[in-house]
Amino acid sequence: MANQEKINELIEKRAKAKLGGGEKRIDSQHAKGKLTARERIDILLDEDSFEEFDMFVTHRTKSFGLDKQIYLSDGVVTGHGTIDGRIVYLFAQDFTVFGGSLSETYALKICKVMDMAMKIGVPVIGLNDSGGARIQEGVRSLAGYAEIFQRNIMASGVIPQISSILGPCAGGAVYSPALTDFTIMTEETSYMFVTGPKVVQTVTGEVVTTEQLGGAKIHSTRSGVSHFLAENDEENLLLVRKILSYLPSNNLEEAPVITCNDPIDRLEDALNEIIPENPNQPYDIVDVISILADNGEFTEVHRNYARNISVGFARFNGHPVGIVANQPKYYAGVLDIEASRKAARFVRFCDAFNIPIVTLVDVPGFLPGTGQEYGGIILHGAKLLFAYGEATVPKVTITLRKSYGGAHDVMSCKQLRGDVNYAWPTAEIAVMGAKGAVEVLEGSKIRKIEDAEEKQEFIQKKEDEYTQKFANPYEAAKYGFIDDVIEPRNTRFRIVRALELLQNKKEVNPPKKHSNIPL
Ligand code: HXC
Repeated sequence: MANQEKINELIEKRAKAKLGGGEKRIDSQHAKGKLTARERIDILLDEDSFEEFDMFVTHRTKSFGLDKQIYLSDGVVTGHGTIDGRIVYLFAQDFTVFGGSLSETYALKICKVMDMAMKIGVPVIGLNDSGGARIQEGVRSLAGYAEIFQRNIMASGVIPQISSILGPCAGGAVYSPALTDFTIMTEETSYMFVTGPKVVQTVTGEVVTTEQLGGAKIHSTRSGVSHFLAENDEENLLLVRKILSYLPSNNLEEAPVITCNDPIDRLEDALNEIIPENPNQPYDIVDVISILADNGEFTEVHRNYARNISVGFARFNGHPVGIVANQPKYYAGVLDIEASRKAARFVRFCDAFNIPIVTLVDVPGFLPGTGQEYGGIILHGAKLLFAYGEATVPKVTITLRKSYGGAHDVMSCKQLRGDVNYAWPTAEIAVMGAKGAVEVLEGSKIRKIEDAEEKQEFIQKKEDEYTQKFANPYEAAKYGFIDDVIEPRNTRFRIVRALELLQNKKEVNPPKKHSNIPL
């Protein structure tokens, strides 16, 4: 064969590989409102930056007539490219080849990019669209999954791992995305479940649709499996780019800093007015975050799940930070099981990747009741406590309004190694609210007063006394638990300056194999 013929052969093979399962299946993919693996890669990566690996890999199975069904790339496209000029490794499952199902060689392709990403110290992105284990491959497919899981585990906390779910993701296959840092699901075309609707009906008799069981909406609102909800493939992939813009490439690097055109010392009079006079009246903490952060930008994680706490990424003076903020708009910002788990995971993510944490506190306490106690709020609340106490990244805490009881301690208080703790003059930092405190402290006296009006007057008087003495920031400031009481409108500048001062913070936990966080 002459050289040119050999080159032509290569070109032909490449073209064939790029067709995946063929035109008909590509059309069927499009008809479902989904893009192909390669189209997705084009959206995800910087233009012309993709370099593919293992295009000529094929499966090794001969049974079930598979020896006659050979597709170059074997159902997964792998390689590396750049996002905003920074290297990432990726794999994109190709549903047009055996429904994107995972063979032994397919798994090895994924393992190769994961190993490379670990060696170089750059993120791995998985674009998932697969019927799961390739049935014809039997246990070799299961072994392939386990190889990937093991790598997910070793990479956890070392390089960012992001999973886009763009089609089916079922059976044990769901555990790879679950082991990664962020999962983004696309509405209507993606789903995740351990056992599908048919098995559910057979085993439990319950009749559910795919969407009800494991659709994007359910996992973004009820289970919390999905951190982000995207309308379509394109939005999903652009979200990956956005999330990565806040993250360092690995745990030994700092997150990328961008030029900030938003004045760091802008005074925001609106903040002086934002806390309602009535302590039971809600407001939207996201409004506060937007006012404080660079250019009002806040990328909320888990926006539709455990809405009583808001977490996400923002920037101060161009530096990425993680924000954790009680949300008075939902259930008065109370801490419950889901909110504790959500925030704990986010705090730990930020700590693993050197992203400072800014905490905005307005929390009436933990949600009381048997539902919470039986569900293990003790353990779940402890997760958040543990996460904050273990974190060594810079921690800046601002108490806006309520900070009561155990929830005060949990929300990045001074003694959990909060580096800078400020409070607004509207802060109420105490063991409990005035109503509860008076009931406990004055209960016997209250019960003895027979006249209803007199009783109410007494209660009101005692509540006012308590509020004046304890429901303020100065009691905590008196002991140095709060470093300063600040004017709300000046908060942006105080946060920027605190973060700047903390840039070279060094704090190290004692050597240990790993901690034993209450799971
Ligand atoms: C081999 C598969 C496959 C699989 C789909 N295909 N899943 N081939 N192994 N797991 C093939 C189909 O035969 C078909 O081939 C093509 O992919 C497209 O599939 P369709 O069924 O036509 O597509 P659709 O109607 O969109 O349905 C998609 C689907 C369905 C819901 C994913 O295919 C399905 O239920 N597949 C099986 C899912 C499953 O049970 N997987 C195992 C899960 S357990 P042709 O040639 O006709 O185009 C698991 C364990 C992992 O994964 C454990 C890890 C620890």
